Amino acid sequence: MSRKFHVYGNWKLHNNAAASRALAQAVVEATSAFRDAVVTGMAPVFLSLAAVREAVPAHPHLKVVAQNGYPAPKGAFTGEVSFALLKDAGCDAVLIGHSERRQIFGETDAFLAEKVPAALAAGLEVVFCVGETLDEREAGRTWEVVGRQIDAVLPKVDAASRARLIVAYEPVWAIGTGRTATPAQAQEVHRLIRDRVAQLWDAAGAAELIIQYGGSVKAENAAELFACPDIDGGLVGGAALDAAGFAKIVAAAAAIRR
Ligand code: PGA
Repeated sequence: MSRKFHVYGNWKLHNNAAASRALAQAVVEATSAFRDAVVTGMAPVFLSLAAVREAVPAHPHLKVVAQNGYPAPKGAFTGEVSFALLKDAGCDAVLIGHSERRQIFGETDAFLAEKVPAALAAGLEVVFCVGETLDEREAGRTWEVVGRQIDAVLPKVDAASRARLIVAYEPVWAIGTGRTATPAQAQEVHRLIRDRVAQLWDAAGAAELIIQYGGSVKAENAAELFACPDIDGGLVGGAALDAAGFAKIVAAAAAIRR
């Protein structure tokens, strides 16, 4: 198994251009010792992408990530940004289907099934987010929901683009709540995702798929999460806003030998 750890920071709606540039510079510096071992990403707001791009040296293990994009290449879509424009702005990757997009902005499985192939076709790497709510988990419906989210999108990814897809499992009840899934809870869902992808794609594609965990990842819990065999890194929200703390999460990934 040769999967590299991928640790990406989702900065959400935080930081103006100057603060984003400073944070990106600090992250690049603080994580430089782990650059060979861990793929590291930063996702600022759209308007800070250019500043972050300038601050992040071109390197295959350093990713500038957008938080969203729109599937049509152009047209009458007021307020939207196309994947081609993100690519043009120097983005390497884009988050798609974050639970905040699904819950607050009403993004459906069907819409995400359009967005993911469009982003891949534009040449971006995609971090496709899935996860169940607390009600769904407590009702024993975790896999019903996550399996449905996976089934809606993964069959739309053509074989040539598979290596550019990352799945982020982010239980909604763990996002921004300080309540992290236990390593066992996360590993169980990661394994189910990988097994399902083996059916939808093939065994080799599933074995190579990077599956990040997200939801209150921090320096204190990263090592035990990343020690799980099917957890290939993290999508980090709150703890990514501090370069030193984020670097500790990257260091935890770098310390694990697979
Ligand atoms: P959190 O956010 O680390 O603040 O829980 C994770 C995410 O929303 O990607």
